[in-house]
Amino acid sequence: MTLPMHLSKDMTRDQASGLRMMNQPNNDKVKVIAVSGGKGGVGKTSVSINTAVALAEKGKRVLVLDADLGLANVDVMLGIRAEKNLSHVLSGDAELDDIIVRGPKGIGIVPATSGTQAMVELTQAQHAGLIRAFSEMRTQFDILIVDTAAGISDMVLSFSRASQDVLIVVCDEPTSITDAYALIKILSREHGVFHFKIVANMVRSLREGMELFAKLSKVTDRFLDVALELVATVPFDENLRKAVRKQKLVVEAFPKSPSAIAYHGLANKIMTWPVPQQPGGHLEFFVERLVQRKPVEEGRASE
Ligand SMILES: Nc1ncnc2c1ncn2[C@@H]1O[C@H](COP(=O)(O)OP(=O)(O)OP(=O)(O)O)[C@@H](O)[C@H]1O
Ligand SMILES: [Mg+2]
Repeated sequence: MTLPMHLSKDMTRDQASGLRMMNQPNNDKVKVIAVSGGKGGVGKTSVSINTAVALAEKGKRVLVLDADLGLANVDVMLGIRAEKNLSHVLSGDAELDDIIVRGPKGIGIVPATSGTQAMVELTQAQHAGLIRAFSEMRTQFDILIVDTAAGISDMVLSFSRASQDVLIVVCDEPTSITDAYALIKILSREHGVFHFKIVANMVRSLREGMELFAKLSKVTDRFLDVALELVATVPFDENLRKAVRKQKLVVEAFPKSPSAIAYHGLANKIMTWPVPQQPGGHLEFFVERLVQRKPVEEGRASE
């Protein structure tokens, strides 16, 4: 895939530092990636869990946080019934380690809360409890993927600004492009997020993926001060739906299919993205940002 000059340079730099990180014993450094998109049904959950499993196949320990309070997407897609979820952790009835369910290739899943209370509206005590729950986690993992809900709720904004990398899944429909634009706009103007990694989903060819990326970039370049990078082009793939009907993931059921290959490509890229350098890892930082009441005034989530 040919990328614009400035993107290729960025990627080379990322790859180099990513490789340096991979040579280090990787324990407390956790990479946190939010998967958003604005619009519903664009493929956020499919991207989250297929990429998670692809990363697990490459030896990464991956945890998927289902941050969709409405529909508990991840468990439904994987056919998993979770007895407990994040609300039990918040009420003190369970620890995070206890609620993690295991999915394909050993990926961990933190099931969504089924309650209606948004995380940004937690009490001070619950804030502290959530930070503690994450920092006391015994389960070791390298990458946390946060599958967010559709829309531009506080929840979606909090998770996106708290994460190190923000993936925006977009497909070639006017509403998907406008919703992605609206999300990017509010994240950049009000939450200090300026870098976005775009996944062009359900496209018919690589070229169509690049054209979709160009359409989105055209409007963001014109009106916003943000940097977009096309990180994956996932073809429209009937196998994905077939796999869903079997309650399997396409990367497991049809590993040679075009979409599975694209998810693996994305996983390979993620492996090259640098992990945070802060002592003590990134997770506490992630949760602290997650529960901040006010949008960040300065600085950015991705740095
Ligand atoms: N590349 C693809 N090719 C074909 N079908 C796809 C592709 N990606 C996703 N789908 C299908 O589109 C539907 C929506 O996908 P998914 O649930 O991943 O989207 P979502 O953005 O998480 O939706 P929601 O906003 O409801 O959480 C599913 O039926 C899924 O199988
Ligand atoms: Mg979903």
